[in-house]
Amino acid sequence: MNAIIWQNNQLKLLDQTKLPGTMEYITCNDYRTVGEAIKCLSVRGAPAIGAAAAYGLVVGAQQVEANDRKTFLEKLEAIAGELGATRPTAVNLRWALDRMLMRLNTAPEQDTLELKKIMLEEAHAIYNEDVESNRRMGAYGQELLPEEARVLTHCNAGALATAGYGTALGVIRAAHEKGKKVSVYADETRPLLQGARLTSWEMVQEGIPVTLITDNMAGYLMSKKMIDCVVVGADRITANGDVANKIGTYGVAVLANHHKIPFYVAAPLSTIDMSLASGEEIPIEERDAKEVTHHGGQPMAPDGVQVWNPAFDVTPNPLVQAIITEKGVILPPYQENLAKICKRQEV
Ligand code: MRU
Repeated sequence: MNAIIWQNNQLKLLDQTKLPGTMEYITCNDYRTVGEAIKCLSVRGAPAIGAAAAYGLVVGAQQVEANDRKTFLEKLEAIAGELGATRPTAVNLRWALDRMLMRLNTAPEQDTLELKKIMLEEAHAIYNEDVESNRRMGAYGQELLPEEARVLTHCNAGALATAGYGTALGVIRAAHEKGKKVSVYADETRPLLQGARLTSWEMVQEGIPVTLITDNMAGYLMSKKMIDCVVVGADRITANGDVANKIGTYGVAVLANHHKIPFYVAAPLSTIDMSLASGEEIPIEERDAKEVTHHGGQPMAPDGVQVWNPAFDVTPNPLVQAIITEKGVILPPYQENLAKICKRQEV
């Protein structure tokens, strides 16, 4: 189940809008195809968007004909700008593109063929490091789960949302691999049903028990003492530990705290944005009204109705019991502890 494949010098992206019914890959010979795939959520999930954009820049480099280094770099900056503008909330997108450009700008090579090679190596590195991070996150995170754990998750933070293994689902996978008795409750995640279509699909394929609920059932489920903890992914975490994730996450966090159920966030350091002081500064993507008014092409609401469709929300840090990263589990006070871990990363 690879969301992103680089094969025969070509980028292929699994079209997640067609899952679980159809498994179809989009071949990207143009960086604009990659941009479109990110925009329309064929490839989605913060780390997967980052890795896809890194490869998208490699595809863009293949299209650039300039032979001199200066023009080549200018054209790639412009392509990175286009790719970076596709989705605003997941910081991994900008992080991956900046890392690619930094590698390029600091490479001494003049030959554009050499520079193209370097770019592909860097994209592979971003991809491989993400899988490795997820495995580490899984190993740290599974320790937080009891021997028998009924885990609620929201949206899809699995293999499909990353280069592989997943963040929140990586924690669940690792606990399952450890022999813990884990079962998952998956919020369907309106409006685009990433929980129903993708999370439950991943879990069913893996043989991890999963129960699908509609989003409005989570509170009742918790009140019945049927959830031991919540684990979700993140699109951006600010310096104070506020967490942007799929719309509906905030509601789940409030419910979990009301019911004294631990609420955990699993995310790689590439999702932490130390340049923003708090969640209020995170740009929140608003998407097409049709995602709310229509389902499977059929209208579910009257013509002319007004719609608000933010794709993400922000969970304030006091509602988050721990942030699971590839460098370990971070506890409050986040302001201090995130700064420490990010500083260590820079060294
Ligand atoms: O709109 P999406 O499907 O890209 O939103 C995805 C999420 O909100 C995920 O929870 C988040 O990106 C973490 S993925 C490991």
